[in-house]
Amino acid sequence: TISSVGAQAALVSKPRNRGISGLKASYKVAVLGAAGGIGQPLGLLIKMSPLVSELRLYDIANVKGVAADLSHCNTPSQVMDFTGPAELASCLKGVDVVVIPAGVPRKPGMTRDDLFNINAGIVKSLIEAVADNCPEAFIHIISNPVNSTVPIAAEILKQKGVYNTKKLFGVSTLDVVRANTFVAQKKGLKLIDVDVPVVGGHAGITILPLLSKTRPSVTFTDEETEQLTKRIQNAGTEVVEAKAGAGSATLSMAYAAARFVESSLRALAGDPDVYECTYVQSELTELPFFASRVKIGKNGVESIISSDLEGITEYEANALEALKPELKASIEKGIEFAHK
Ligand code: NAD
Ligand code: LMR
Repeated sequence: TISSVGAQAALVSKPRNRGISGLKASYKVAVLGAAGGIGQPLGLLIKMSPLVSELRLYDIANVKGVAADLSHCNTPSQVMDFTGPAELASCLKGVDVVVIPAGVPRKPGMTRDDLFNINAGIVKSLIEAVADNCPEAFIHIISNPVNSTVPIAAEILKQKGVYNTKKLFGVSTLDVVRANTFVAQKKGLKLIDVDVPVVGGHAGITILPLLSKTRPSVTFTDEETEQLTKRIQNAGTEVVEAKAGAGSATLSMAYAAARFVESSLRALAGDPDVYECTYVQSELTELPFFASRVKIGKNGVESIISSDLEGITEYEANALEALKPELKASIEKGIEFAHK
């Protein structure tokens, strides 16, 4: 469903700073790719969540050490490790949320789409296991290119007869995290207050920050809009270049993914006020998948917030039209791969 929500203020998500009294540590979360650059700090942040009872870590190698290490933290969740495809089913049975950061990261000079050939197959095989073992779970896809890996996941789930459009999420939280940081820095705002919706997809020009919808309301010169938009779109590449061959964003990504996990767990626990930008099946535009702010509830996506796209500036409207062909091609590439 698409709903237009008038009360803009109510849509500002307040990550990680709400009281958690009354919510029980009762959720099981699996991380697939848990020994990697994102997986390890993400495991640590999830281990700190008071809502998690079991943290299940899966990778094709090196996961035992990560699990032993994390298990010594005196927080409530139990840490379990699973290595290789033979242990994947046990990892997945009964989980509430599956987070997938498995796959190779970019090196300087590469686009996210250059990762398609390796990561498409990894996501396909992991989603097949998710479909067989925990089809009811919320599925968070981090592996790039997200614009294509989410459509791949959707097709595999459909082929298995278990696709729930409301429970498949492409994690684009890092774009929001970056936009909030850069806007707060530029305008001298208190970070905790700033919320910028980022729509479209998660690669290059498909990442579209709607600066005109920043909360609290801020004005930008044309030059600031251009500079901030480009920086947010290029932020992943900024990190890839700074790491100079050693990978892409891992720490800020783990932070962003942990925020999205926490939001999902709050929604599962009945919090009626959970909003996040995420790349999901959508009717907001003519494209079948689109990132936008959504309301998340116990059953996944409760509504897609259309009001963010209403009354956008001419700059944003042009950028929205300009991103559609690339996003459409990435979606079609994913769907075609899943049918091969
Ligand atoms: P990494 O190479 O450090 O870690 C990847 C991990 O995946 C490794 O531990 C590897 O063993 C594991 N893996 C590979 N094949 C697997 C399989 N079949 N099953 C389970 N695990 C498997 O890479 P990273 O820096 O953690 O990045 C991982 C992915 O996340 C990349 O594709 C990267 O582009 C993407 N990423 C996405 C975002 C986003 O905003 N969505 C941000 C940063 C990175
Ligand atoms: C990011 O935005 O940091 C990730 O998508 C990783 C990358 O390749 O840039």
